[in-house]
Amino acid sequence: MIQKKDILKIAIDSPAAAGAGTLAKSISKYYNLIYLDTGKIYRLIALYKLKNPKKFNLNFIKKKIKNLEIKDLKNKKLLSDEVGMEASIIAKKKSIRKLIYSFQKKLAYNPPKKYDGSCLDGRDITYNIVPDADFKFFITANVKTRAIRRYKELKGLKKSVSFKEVLKSIKNRDKSDYNRKISPLKKTKDSLLINTTKLSKRACFLKIKKIIDRKINI
Ligand code: C5P
Repeated sequence: MIQKKDILKIAIDSPAAAGAGTLAKSISKYYNLIYLDTGKIYRLIALYKLKNPKKFNLNFIKKKIKNLEIKDLKNKKLLSDEVGMEASIIAKKKSIRKLIYSFQKKLAYNPPKKYDGSCLDGRDITYNIVPDADFKFFITANVKTRAIRRYKELKGLKKSVSFKEVLKSIKNRDKSDYNRKISPLKKTKDSLLINTTKLSKRACFLKIKKIIDRKINI
């Protein structure tokens, strides 16, 4: 693959609801990077599966991925916990991961011209999708804090869920994402750990901005 030169590449991995998405969005906006929430691709495939269980097979997914555009990932239906859990199940399949590998790579290494780089977040970005990223972060928070954040987000979307259900679903997803054999969630040695448990969104942003500016302003 031909790679665009002189672009800034940021790779982020994190467990569910750790605040990585919010952070990645603000960082992307500030540095003019294209942002890809890779979890949304798995969620979109999961939604296809839930909606079309009979049609769902690799060829069906292949066709959908071929025509995939970032705007498709903005669908509000992708945000439910049911879709998240299904995403975590299908994400264990090597054949499915293979189908979306190139889409992620292309965006990371050849972002559209108007951008100065790319920022991807997910579970295997720092070591599988963008292993040579200029900056790698592992963003986490304790499980209760993550559940509270997700609960508030779902309530804001008028979903009828209990806190207990949300906490259980996050714990299940952690178990599945950290322990799977294929592309598990892990913190690589070269990733910087950011624990957002006690940090505001602004404080997280400033912490990361400081790290980036120190290196790119040399
Ligand atoms: O990040 P989000 O919670 O939307 O991701 C949904 C699920 O997709 C995760 O629980 C994980 O199993 C899967 N995923 C993945 N690899 C990625 C991004 C997400 O396996 N790069």
